[in-house]
Amino acid sequence: MHVIATDVSDTKDKMARMAKEQLEKPGFAIDPYFYRSHVTYQSELEHIVFKSWLYAGHISQIPNKGDYFLVDIGEDSIIVCRDRKEQIHAMHNMCRHRGARVCEESSGNKRTFSCPYHGWGYGLDGKLKAARDMRDVEGFDFDDYGLLHVRMEIFQGMIFINCDPDAPDFQKPLSKISRQLGAYDLENAKVAEAKTYKIDANWKLCLENYLECYHCASSHRHYAKLHTLEALAHKVKPINEAMWGRAEEITGVEGIADEFYGYYNDSSAFGACSYHSRYALYEGYQSGSKDGTPVAPLMGNMKGYDGGAGDFQLGPLTFMLNYPDHCVLYRFIPRSLTQTDMELVWFVNGDAEEGVDYQKEDLTWLWHFTSLEDEFIIMRNSAGVNSHFFQPGPYHPEHESTCMEFISWYLKALSKIKSS
Ligand code: FES
Ligand SMILES: [Fe+2]
Repeated sequence: MHVIATDVSDTKDKMARMAKEQLEKPGFAIDPYFYRSHVTYQSELEHIVFKSWLYAGHISQIPNKGDYFLVDIGEDSIIVCRDRKEQIHAMHNMCRHRGARVCEESSGNKRTFSCPYHGWGYGLDGKLKAARDMRDVEGFDFDDYGLLHVRMEIFQGMIFINCDPDAPDFQKPLSKISRQLGAYDLENAKVAEAKTYKIDANWKLCLENYLECYHCASSHRHYAKLHTLEALAHKVKPINEAMWGRAEEITGVEGIADEFYGYYNDSSAFGACSYHSRYALYEGYQSGSKDGTPVAPLMGNMKGYDGGAGDFQLGPLTFMLNYPDHCVLYRFIPRSLTQTDMELVWFVNGDAEEGVDYQKEDLTWLWHFTSLEDEFIIMRNSAGVNSHFFQPGPYHPEHESTCMEFISWYLKALSKIKSS
């Protein structure tokens, strides 16, 4: 972990002022202050991350009553579990007595959540069931001390959470991409693999790297050989247009190539982004694999390979790249000022059998390899922007346009924060 000294003169007022000043330089990378300020990091958690819809997991991870998994965000831990009535809950992993974690293992099956400290016990729905010697304490009501719930929405089998009790609805923005995403039938899909890449860099560097493909040609030779996103739009226009022209017929999914842009400043509400576009693979390639050939059976309602890939955003920190035979989900979660969890999840058709219908190594090769390349460049970027002498340079107006969108949304959020 890279340790950054606390600047004792740093304040929320300074942060908001810096954000406003930065907003006046829209075409430029941001000041190193935003990667180094502890005040900023705490404000980002409070005002951005904990107010955003985040992918938590897939329903297939908790098929049985009592199944649960944990989601770590910053220093916080959230339990997602299935109760006795098959209801799924998301709750803070924090005892209502004096705050101890009530669940330690990252996934498993439980009958109750029992606090290791003074033994309070909670049901799978979070209700307080046992609190030793508290029943006779005057004014103590068990109903007042259940585990704190987190907002949760399930969309096509994917569980999303939002720590803000007043968070805006997420179903409506997601419904704008439901046809395109529905093609893969993620509700009945199977998680073939999930990996967490622990990156020693600020979360914004990880996200900025995901949001632009300017680096693809120089940093991802394998990816760039297959995917047209590495090139400027006008250069690959004929390839994309040909794919859009055949996509519906070959995949059998009406509207599969329809674009929808509802991210960052254009999202219907704060932290409820949704986006889709379909872009082409280069001639002769069918999927995102080592040699561009399929690595698993077709997903959901897909009837064939149109030479396209669906690019999605689901909330500000979650993305998917979906090929006809498999889907890859990316989620970025800040863990400290200088640490980010980059989670990758590979989905295949729910009926696909490992070793028979797909080989895990072949399935995961391209994006595992590409993620390691990303980790390498993000770490170097981190080292550079943390230099006291870094002078932010210009973004490329097209290649880095989404990056600029994110930065503008991010700075606007910071600029509104008042000192308390
Ligand atoms: S902190 Fe959990 S029972 Fe005391
Ligand atoms: Fe990359």
